[in-house]
Formats: sequence, C-alpha cells, structure tokens
Amino acid sequence: RLAYCPAQGAKGAADHAGATEEEGARAAGGARRDGLDRSYPYYLANRPVAANTDLEVRDKYSGRIATRVALADGATVRKALVAAHRARPAMAAFPPDARRDVLEHCVRRFGERAEELALALCIEAGKPIRDARGEVTRLIDTFRIAAGEATRIQGEVLELQVSERARGYRGMVKRVPIGACSFITPFNFPLNLVAHKVAPAIAAGCPFVLKPAAKTPVGALIIAGVLAETDLPKGAFSVLPCSNEDAAQLVEDERIALLSFTGGLVGWELKTRAGKKKVTLELGGNAACIVDADPGADLDHVVERLVSGAYYQSGQSCISVQRIIAHADVYPALRRKLKAAVAKLRMGDPRDERTFIGPMIDEAAAKRVEKWIRDARKGGAKLLVGGDREGNMLPAALLENVPRDADLYRREVFGPVACLEAFDDFDDALARANDSDFGLQAGVFTASLAHAMRAWDRLEVGGVVIGDVPSFRVDSMPYGGVRDSGLGREGVKSAIGDMTEPRLMVIRDPS
Ligand code: SIN
Repeated sequence: RLAYCPAQGAKGAADHAGATEEEGARAAGGARRDGLDRSYPYYLANRPVAANTDLEVRDKYSGRIATRVALADGATVRKALVAAHRARPAMAAFPPDARRDVLEHCVRRFGERAEELALALCIEAGKPIRDARGEVTRLIDTFRIAAGEATRIQGEVLELQVSERARGYRGMVKRVPIGACSFITPFNFPLNLVAHKVAPAIAAGCPFVLKPAAKTPVGALIIAGVLAETDLPKGAFSVLPCSNEDAAQLVEDERIALLSFTGGLVGWELKTRAGKKKVTLELGGNAACIVDADPGADLDHVVERLVSGAYYQSGQSCISVQRIIAHADVYPALRRKLKAAVAKLRMGDPRDERTFIGPMIDEAAAKRVEKWIRDARKGGAKLLVGGDREGNMLPAALLENVPRDADLYRREVFGPVACLEAFDDFDDALARANDSDFGLQAGVFTASLAHAMRAWDRLEVGGVVIGDVPSFRVDSMPYGGVRDSGLGREGVKSAIGDMTEPRLMVIRDPS
C-alpha cells in the first residue's frame, strides 16, 4: 500500500517539487561525493524542494564542505505550518495500521541504508564510525518501537456512578492526536533525536514541521526522503533547515499545538514565547555517577563503563558522565585505572574504526571546554589526563579536586571531560550528585539494595540507573529531566502521551 520509490531520479524529484529538471537534479542529490550526496533538498509538505539558497555542511574532521542542503526561508516555514495545520484531519483519520506500515517501511529502508546513514553521521557530526553505527541501530529501534505503539494507543472505561445523580452514566476515554507539532533538534544525535520526535508523531497521527540543527541537517533530510516514499497524507511532514529567526514561527505560531525542543538552556526562553501550546524540553545536564565502596561489579568493568559514558562521541551527549563520585575505599584504585584507560583513548579520524575521540562539533565548542578546564585548574583542580587542543580536536581530560563552583562542575560541559571526587558516606554522595541545577539521569554502581533504593528515592533526576552509567538509554524508556534539564519525557510511549489528548465520551444508559 506504500507509494514506494527508492531510487527517485532527477525527473521524479522535479515532478514532485514542481521544479525545473535542473533543480530536480539538485533535489535528487546529484553525484555522490565522499559518502554524501552533492546536495540535499528540504521537504515541504512531504515533497523534496531544491531552494535557491543553501547551507554548507562541513565535514567536521577535515573542515571541508561535504555537501549543501536547501535552506528554507520564512515564507516556506509559514507554508509548512499551514500545510501541517490543514493535514490534521487527514492524519487523525489515517488509520493506526497505516501509520504502523509507514513506520515499518522506515525500519526496512533504514536497515537497507544503514551504512550510508552511519557515514553521513560520521561526516556531518564527526561521530566516530562505531558510535555512528550504534546511532543507526537506535534509529531503527525507535521507529520499530513506534510501529508497535501505533496500534496500541489505549483508552479507558470509567465508572461514573459516584452518587445517585450519576446513576446509569458511564464514561469512556480515548486518546486523539493533539494536532500539528513543531520540532527543533540538536546536532549531537542527528538521526535518533529526530526519530524521537518524528516516529511518535506518526504513531500518534500528528502532522509536524521539523527544523534540524544547522550543523547536522543531513540525517533528518535522509529520514524525510524515506518518509516521502510513503503514502502519508499530504502536508503530514516538513523538514526544513532554516535560520533561527525563521524558526521563531515554529515556537510562536498559534496553529501549532505542541513544541518539542531538544537542545540547550535557550529552551526555557522558547517556552516563554510559545503561547498556549504544550511544550516539552530536553535541555541536558551534568550527570553524576556514584561508585560505592562495593560497586557490585568488577572495578575494571566499572572503569570501562565510565570511560564509555564520559567520552563517547567526545562527551557530546546530554547524559554523558561529567562527575564521578567514588567511595574513598575504591578511590585510589579507580583513579589509577581510569587514568590509564583515559590516557589510552585514541583520537583521530572518525572514519577510522579504531578512533574513540573524534572532533567536537566546532572549534568554538572545543575552545569553550578548553577554557573551562583552564579555569578549573586555576581554581585548584588537578589535571590527571589531558592534552593540547588542535582546532576542534580536544583530547580526553580527567580532573580531580574540581571546585564545586567551577563551570566544569556546575554547567553542562558537553565535551570529553570527567571530574573525579571522593566521598565517605553514601548520603553525602547523594547530596553531591544533587548539588546541581540539572537533573536528567544519574548512575550508581552499588552492591547494596538499600543504597540502590535510597538513590532512587533521593536523587532528583528523571532517571536513576543502578549498576551502570547515567549515559545508558534504551529508546523505549521514559527519558527527560527535572529542574533546568527540562520538562516532560521522551521515549516513544511517553512522547505519544504528549502528542495525544484524552477525549471523554459520556453515555447515559436509559434502561
Ligand atoms: C541526548 O543527548 O539528549 C540523548 C542521549 C541519548 O539518546 O543517548
């Protein structure tokens, strides 16, 4: 039942967009170069469009221009919002099994194009190829989970007979799509954080307009290309790289029922401009991981997980391990093993299978982290492992005695850095973990069930991971934070909850 056209050529793209054949050739990508198409169209109301203005996307390792993507202007963003708003009835009427089929089609196509997707991430985000492949696996998981959920959106039967006046009345609640949604996604997971908005929206029956991060728009455009192969109702989706000024409409337009934003603390400001719409925010953190006196696992395993949690994709994850709080009994051994493991991390070309630390997203980000390390050292921190920055390549750094008021401790580093500190008393470790404006996830390695339960009770975060790092995430679980970390939960089922509303029907039984 799907209008499936995997190898759309220049002519097809031109027909679709109502554009010239030459523009169509650009929309279709032209010849492939260095793993990416020469250019990518944006998608307006389900259709690829080559624009007159485009955005350069650089290879984050070489710094060279890797491709260009069509850049939408303000008028195009407006058209997309109108189309999404008009598509509400058609999307609501698009049956659950058809939504599931669309999502399953995506699962199939992402599987077929897995290596291309991984390479795109590697180039546009500088993500080491092994992490990039991991993200493609998660993209597929997220769409597969959404395909399952599409036919499982449940209602409720209510007992209304609470007193004499309600005799014979019953209630039933079903969940209906909230309406048109706008999505703004960050650079660090160009596929899977797009998937966490797009896949639940399709499962819930919501049309949407998405703005991908300007530095990494390609992943979202490949996803949009796959969606364009399906028979989603006209206007169901638009994916538009555009300026922040033009994206203001996604935040402010009153036709939009829900804004879902993943990114930095600017999300709180967006919320103040969002008017009556529902807003969900995922804004990061400075995650703590506690290692108890008896961590409940071999210390080498703990070190392996800490290194992975703190330094994968150069720490550019909202749940990267930033603060390691270790019991004094294990501190010396943990410190020694961590130092050795971090010093061994291989930095280099993200295409190289052996690379663990690739480039940061840009030089400004690497300079910022470098400065925070320098400031922390001036304040008394000791650098256990680290090295000199070159451009946007920043070697993994491990520090101890970082002052609690240092940016490196208090703010979200979003770089390849971890701070190590010791505790004597488990309650003190919990207090240290909570000493943060953020509250996304926390990890606790402990053999004590009592400590695990106390951590779950007292840590002021959206998720507590026992026996692993806070960086652990499976795409079906509720994911989101408290305090500055955000509002609401992602994870497919939770997002579907946000993208639907309860609608009650009351029935009077006259008998
Ligand atoms: C994030 O950085 O917000 C997402 C982390 C993840 O999905 O693993």
